[in-house]
Amino acid sequence: MTSPDGDGTVVARSEEIADGEMLGVHVDGRSIAIYRSEGRLYATGNICTHGQALLTDGWLEDGVIECPLHGGRFDIGSGACLGPPVDEPLATYPVSERDGEIRVSTRTEARP
Ligand code: FES
Repeated sequence: MTSPDGDGTVVARSEEIADGEMLGVHVDGRSIAIYRSEGRLYATGNICTHGQALLTDGWLEDGVIECPLHGGRFDIGSGACLGPPVDEPLATYPVSERDGEIRVSTRTEARP
């Protein structure tokens, strides 16, 4: 489900990610996690920087994603590590929502 345009790539319909939920997608060969938390959308890399674990298999609470493998925690807005064992931040990506579609751009990847 991809259709690249100027705002990024369409990765999901709005109703696929309810508040407090997340979705793993692939864009431009990258594994990306999309989160909706307190009404806002966020996007980070979906593979933990500590090991081979998908963050979307973990737990999302209060803007923090917890890795399912060793419990590493990251801020979904900045990608910052919030304590051991993780010590490398996640990449973050611009994400937007329009006309019932969620788009992610990998062109302007940002790091904290
Ligand atoms: S693989 Fe995520 S904390 Fe170890």
